[in-house]
Amino acid sequence: MTNPIKNDLLLRALRGELVERPPVWMMRQAGRYLPDFRALRTTHSFFERCRTPELAAEITVMPVRQIGVDAAILFSDILVVPLAMGMEVEMHEGRGPLLPQPVRTVADFERIRVPDVCEELRYVTDAIAASRDLLRSDVPLIGFAGAPWTLLCYMVEGHGAKSFDLAREWCAREPGLAHRLLRMITDTTIAYLRAQADAGVDCVQIFDSWAGLLGPSDFRIFAQPYLIEITQALRDHVPVILFARGAWHALPDLAASGAHALGLDWNIESSFARAHAGPCVTLQSNFDPAHLFAPLPEIERRTRAMIDAFGVQRYIVNLGHGILPTTPVDHARAFVDCVKIFQS
Ligand code: CP3
Repeated sequence: MTNPIKNDLLLRALRGELVERPPVWMMRQAGRYLPDFRALRTTHSFFERCRTPELAAEITVMPVRQIGVDAAILFSDILVVPLAMGMEVEMHEGRGPLLPQPVRTVADFERIRVPDVCEELRYVTDAIAASRDLLRSDVPLIGFAGAPWTLLCYMVEGHGAKSFDLAREWCAREPGLAHRLLRMITDTTIAYLRAQADAGVDCVQIFDSWAGLLGPSDFRIFAQPYLIEITQALRDHVPVILFARGAWHALPDLAASGAHALGLDWNIESSFARAHAGPCVTLQSNFDPAHLFAPLPEIERRTRAMIDAFGVQRYIVNLGHGILPTTPVDHARAFVDCVKIFQS
C-alpha cells in the first residue's frame, strides 16, 4: 500500500473536487534558476543528471523543499524519447539541444525504432521511484513527455529554433513521412507514459511547446489527433494535463479529448479560455514568466488578479511557459507564497 499524499490539492483540482485554494507549481521548476541545480551542472553533464536516478531525484525535490510548490515534476527532458528511439542527442550549455543526424529521408527511418521503453528508459522509471522515496508522499509527482509534434520539430530540424521552418517545410513536402514519424513517436509516448504511471507518478503533463507554430488546419492534421490518442490511452490510468502552447483555437476540441486539465500560455484571456474550454475541464496557468522580474508587491498583485479572473475551483496556478533561468529565487518564492495565502 502506498501512503496517501499529504498535500493532494493538485490531484483534487484535476478531479474537479472542491479545494480551499488553487494548487501552484511552475513549468521547468526543477533546475535552471536554482543555485543548487547550477552547482550540479559543473560536475555532471545534462544527460548524466537525467540518467542517474539519485541525482534526478535530488533535483526533482529541490523546488518542493526550497520554493514550496504543491507538486514536484520529475527532472528529465522531453528529448530522452528521441534518444530511446535511436537518435543521438547532445545538450550544449547555453546553446540547447543538438541532434546531429536528423530524420528527413526514408533511409533515415532505418536508424530509428519504437523502443522497448521499459528497457531503454528504465533510468526514468528508476528516477521516479527514487523521487517518490525522497518526497515521502508530501506532494504529488508529475511525470511528462513531449507531444509528437514538438518532438518531430527537434527530430527533423536537428536543433532548437524559433519557428522550426525546416520541420514545417518537411511536413508540407513529405506528409506521409511526417505521419510515419508521428505514429512512431505516439506509440513510444503511450508506452512511456504508461510506464511512468506504473512507476508511480500521480499525473502526467504532455508538453506541446511548439503547437502554436502550426496554423489551425495543420494543427488538426499533425498535432491534435496524436495528442487526443495519447490522452485517451492514458486518462483511465492517470490524470492528464495537456499543454498545447499557442493552440488557443483548439481549446474546445482539446477539452473534449478527456484530458483532466488544459495548460494555457499568457496570450489567452481567462474568460476566453473558460468560454472555449467549457466548465468541465480544469485550467492551468498562465502567468507570464517575465512578470516574475517585477517588484514583489507587483508579482503578488498580478497573481491575485489572475486567480480572481480564473476562479479558485478547477484551476491550477502555473506560469504560461517555463520559468526563465535568471529569475531571482525569492521572486519565484513570492509567487508561490501568495497563492498559498490566497483568500477569495
Ligand atoms: O521542471 C523541470 O525543469 C523538469 C524537467 C524538464 C526539463 N526539460 C529539464 C531541462 C522539463 C519538463 C523539460 C521539458 C522540455 N525540454 C521542453 C518542453 C517545455 C518547454 O520549455 O517548452 C522542451 C521544448 C525541452 C527541450 C530542451 N531541453 C531545450 C530546448 C533545452 C535547452 C534550453 C533550456 O531549457 O535550458 C533543454 C535543456 C534542459 N532541460 C535544461 C533543463 C533543466 C537546461 C539544461 C541545463 O541547465 O543544464
